[in-house]
Amino acid sequence: MAFHTLFPTFVYQEKLGKPALSKSLIQDILSDAKGLLQIDEQGLEWSRDHYQNGYTSYGSMDKLHEGFPAFQELATHLQPHVKRFAKKQNWDLGSGGLELVTMWINIMPPSTVHSLHLHPLSVVSGTFYVNTPSGTSPIKFEDPRLDRYMAQPPRHPSTPKREQPFYTVEPKAGEVVLFDSWIRHEVPQTPAARSKPKKDLVDLKTARISVSFNYDWR
Ligand SMILES: [Fe+2]
Repeated sequence: MAFHTLFPTFVYQEKLGKPALSKSLIQDILSDAKGLLQIDEQGLEWSRDHYQNGYTSYGSMDKLHEGFPAFQELATHLQPHVKRFAKKQNWDLGSGGLELVTMWINIMPPSTVHSLHLHPLSVVSGTFYVNTPSGTSPIKFEDPRLDRYMAQPPRHPSTPKREQPFYTVEPKAGEVVLFDSWIRHEVPQTPAARSKPKKDLVDLKTARISVSFNYDWR
């Protein structure tokens, strides 16, 4: 008898590099984040409409790796991780390669959520975590077959984590998480914020801060 496990989906989680490297890079990114909150009027306006109580440069400055040295450095350190991810996938990239095309920052106070979405034009997406306060929200992935389950019964609560319809990864500051751009994911509200929803001010010490990015095959 055999049970064949088919079509695996890989989510990669690893420390970016040595702790000292992450620490100094995180300080530099935080310093740039302070600056962005001062100058990125378009992003602040976009966030008011699309990113409740938080700030993201997704709608205004999504090529931070091209203009800010700290993000450029982050891009350099991401390369071996993306290479490892591509190897695990057995991708034949031919004469091309995976190229970093967009990189933006996300500052999420406890009440900010990022609803279910995917990154439709890319191949590899991911996030580097800058600040993950205690009790911070995980990143939650959805089983891509969910819309085909039709009459399938629900699973027992004791089902192994990786066989459930949603899978959460709890990242720590200094870590990088990579995933296929087609997999839907979200950042739910921090549990503590659910009981007393309120308008939070962007505070870099207590916010969940991350840098997200997309790689295309070119
Ligand atoms: Fe995303």
